[in-house]
Order: sequence, then C-alpha cells, then structure tokens
Amino acid sequence: MSMKRTEITPELEEYILENFSAENDFLHSLKKQAAMLKIPEISISGDQGKLLQFLIKTINAKRILELGTLNGYSAIIMAQGASNNCKITTIESNNLHYRFSVEKIDEAGLSENIEVFYGFAIDYIKNYKSEELFDFIFMDADKSNLINYVELCTPLLRTGGIIAIDNSFALGNLTVENPEFDNIHKHRMKDVLAVREFNQYFKNNPNFFSCMLTIEDGMLLGLKTT
Ligand SMILES: C[S@@+](CC[C@H](N)C(=O)[O-])C[C@H]1O[C@@H](n2cnc3c(N)ncnc32)[C@H](O)[C@@H]1O
Repeated sequence: MSMKRTEITPELEEYILENFSAENDFLHSLKKQAAMLKIPEISISGDQGKLLQFLIKTINAKRILELGTLNGYSAIIMAQGASNNCKITTIESNNLHYRFSVEKIDEAGLSENIEVFYGFAIDYIKNYKSEELFDFIFMDADKSNLINYVELCTPLLRTGGIIAIDNSFALGNLTVENPEFDNIHKHRMKDVLAVREFNQYFKNNPNFFSCMLTIEDGMLLGLKTT
C-alpha cells in the first residue's frame, strides 16, 4: 500500500501511549521522583520501552547490556520484559544517576537481575573479560563514542543478537543543514555530527542487518549476522 507517511499528531501519540506502552505506575512515579531531583527527563518513552521488550522477547534475550542508565527506567523496563533469570548490566558515569537508579532497581525488586556499573561505558566494555556473550545491547549514553562502542561490542554480542541505538535522528537535527543551538546547548552540535557519521558507519557495517525506526527521536536496530 503506497500512502503518505502518517503524521504523529499529539492525539495519535496519546493513543499509542495509552494502548501500547510498557510504563506502569512504578515507572511513572520513578520518572516524577527523578525529575524532582533534577535528573534530566531524557528517559525513553513508554512505547519505546514496549519495543525493547518486544525485541528482547523475540530473541529470548537473557544477557543484556545497557550503556546509559540515567534513572533506571529503561533497565527496569527491559528486565520486566525479559525472563526471570535475565541478567542486565547497565553503565552510568554520573554519581547522582547511579545512586538513584540503584535505589529504584532495589525498590522494584530487581537487584538480582540488574547490576549498575558506576563508570564510563568505554572502560566497562574494554575490560569485559567474561566469555558469556550478550544477546541484546541498548546504547543510550554519549553519542561521540558510538562507533567505538559498536566496534568494541561486536565481538561481545552473539550471532542473532541485537543492538538498539537511541536518538538516531540526532535530536531532530539529522537532516537540518545548519542546526541552531543557543550558547547553553551548542555542545549538542558535536552530537549531531557524531550521529550523522555513526548512521552511515552502521548502515555499511557488514556485521549487522540494520533498520531505522521512526519512533520518538529515531532508533537504529542492528541484527548481528556474522
Ligand atoms: C539518555 S540518558 C539514558 C536514559 C536511559 N537509558 C533511560 O531511557 O531511562 C544517558 C545517560 O548516559 C550517561 N552517560 C553519558 N556518557 C556516559 C558514558 N561515557 N559512560 C556511561 N554513562 C554515560 C548520562 O549520565 C545519562 O545518565
């Protein structure tokens, strides 16, 4: 069927979130509590959470890696979509975010399933010694290291495993020729350039079959085929 792409109006977005969201009361209140502590409100959305759960269930992912924990929202969502014996490692370099997420993961009763590593994602990946491969990797930390992350994570992901990368629309600036940022946000230009370069790199990466989803700020998916 060939039709113009449907515009996501606020009403349509509300419909999706009402009907196909992974957010529950606990996660709703977690977001509110995090915001009160001035933790940035940059978690994935409930429908993105549902998508992550869908992918995790599709490949029966048990060993999961997340780069960028923030308040624990997406890690908890992934654990709630995976089997009881799943093991998620999530990496966070900000101390407030780290402490808050550990507390909430404990409150959610998921401390056995989710381990939060306090430090830089690159250090965790470089020092990963276990022979156990990951089934699913969600990349949602700094954008400037994305190529490094994929290069280093590829040998750690099993064949048939999936990498999901958030913000592939570069905060809406992917195709804007000269994005404008005020002084406070001008560092974001670096992220825009990094995402542009990364998307091209990933599209041509022979280890992955990839596709880009028009959900929120875009999400790139890669299925490891080698
Ligand atoms: C977009 S937020 C993650 C959102 C989270 N995945 C969710 O949906 O709830 C990005 C997080 O990555 C963290 N971060 C940024 N650079 C990092 C790095 N190099 N290593 C680890 N964490 C990093 C930030 O402190 C922030 O908490």
